[in-house]
Amino acid sequence: MPVIAVIGAQWGDEGKGKIVDMLAEEAKVVVRFSGGDNAGHTVVNPLGRFALQLVPCGIFNPETTCIIGNGVVINPAVLINEIDELNKRGVDTSNLVISDRANLIMPYHILLDGLEDEARGAKAIGTTRKGIGPAFADKVARYGIRAGDLLDKETFLVRLRSVLDHQNLILTRVYEASPLSLDEVYQQYCQYGERLAPHIKDATVMLEEALNREELVLLEGAQGTLLDPDFGTYPYTTSSSPLAGEGCLGAGLGPTEISRILGVFKAYCTRVGTGPMPTELEDETGDLIRERAHEYGTVTGRPRRCGWFDAVAARHSKRVNGFTGTAITRLDILDTFPGLKICVGYKLDGKTIDYFPASVTALDKCQPVYEELPGWQAPTTDIREYQQLPAEAQNYITRLEELISCPANFVCVGPERSQTIQKTAIF
Ligand code: GDP
Ligand code: IMO
Ligand code: MG
Repeated sequence: MPVIAVIGAQWGDEGKGKIVDMLAEEAKVVVRFSGGDNAGHTVVNPLGRFALQLVPCGIFNPETTCIIGNGVVINPAVLINEIDELNKRGVDTSNLVISDRANLIMPYHILLDGLEDEARGAKAIGTTRKGIGPAFADKVARYGIRAGDLLDKETFLVRLRSVLDHQNLILTRVYEASPLSLDEVYQQYCQYGERLAPHIKDATVMLEEALNREELVLLEGAQGTLLDPDFGTYPYTTSSSPLAGEGCLGAGLGPTEISRILGVFKAYCTRVGTGPMPTELEDETGDLIRERAHEYGTVTGRPRRCGWFDAVAARHSKRVNGFTGTAITRLDILDTFPGLKICVGYKLDGKTIDYFPASVTALDKCQPVYEELPGWQAPTTDIREYQQLPAEAQNYITRLEELISCPANFVCVGPERSQTIQKTAIF
């Protein structure tokens, strides 16, 4: 059986959680492979409405092992709270596995995330302030503390002491903030460790076993391609890669194991935080999309910036991920518009270009070149067969398929698990 990677194709919040929840009805393993609790993945299924930050969206299938992979940075307090909330609502989390190699978010990461973004002043990234950037920076700088470290309290103390000495120097000398107490952090993280210990394991072995049994494995992406530190709008990005390639590194499997890569796109564009967004609509159309779609961040509650579908960015996303298919979500949000625009090129310094520039200075100057398509002005939320969609809606999807050069496997017309239309088979 195959491995399917479910990847955010825009600036995040495309509806990855919804797609993973649906596909997980058949999956034996779901692995979250990047990001941290900056993610907010909404699932609406027969058990209710859930917004998951760290627990993979396969958790609602009791037959599915859900792995938080080595590529994720984990805030243990957030994870414990999420587990408790799920349990309270009758969702079993005994099949949750935490990779012993996953790095932990520590209290100083959260402090530094706020201090660093404030220090950027007008150039602030508008991070989620969850400590994500500092935690990934420490991972590569080899100052990280990993989930597996919590399993041996003595070794953990030695490690924490040396790491905290360094972090306290930065807090006090660079930011003139108060130092953190070794004893307090140690005691708190020992408690987290006791609570999470039954879940902390070497996840790669069980992943290999699932592959050997030819079971369906899902790789659950977080964030979106345009927030990737290499291929996104750097430096206005997150700090781990949301790309399909990271699906291998952040889960612990080889690149040849991935058989399908599903790019999740909204039928339009949104972005939270600062940084270029060529099709942003700072007018009443943008407001209309935001209110109709209730585009406010799942994690921070911030209003999302809204705009038309950007096919230049979409092609870039397809190119760097190698999508084999797409899921187009939130088609229903466009139900009331008389006409719809799709950005098919950018005007930059008087020339029309068809690629997504690497430089944010260039991107800031890009003016979208639009193609206009007729709207359908009819409700789609109750439709379950592709052929039943209004002709204009089918045309819109066909045009997106042409522009992205990738077939749509799914079209979504509402937040619920059942509100998904399969257009073509994934395999
Ligand atoms: P994720 O981070 O990619 O999992 O996406 P989020 O959960 O942050 O944001 C997607 C939002 O769109 C959530 O509120 C979903 O419930 C909702 N959603 C997903 N698909 C659809 C759809 O087809 N139509 C509508 N109206 N809402 C959808
Ligand atoms: P999901 O998985 C949308 C954005 C933040 C900010 C930038 C950097 O739900 O799609 P960070 O805290 O990661 O250092 O913030 O990235 N961001 C997201 N935007 N969806 C997300 O995740 C995001 N995760 C981070 O708003 O602009
Ligand atoms: Mg989200």
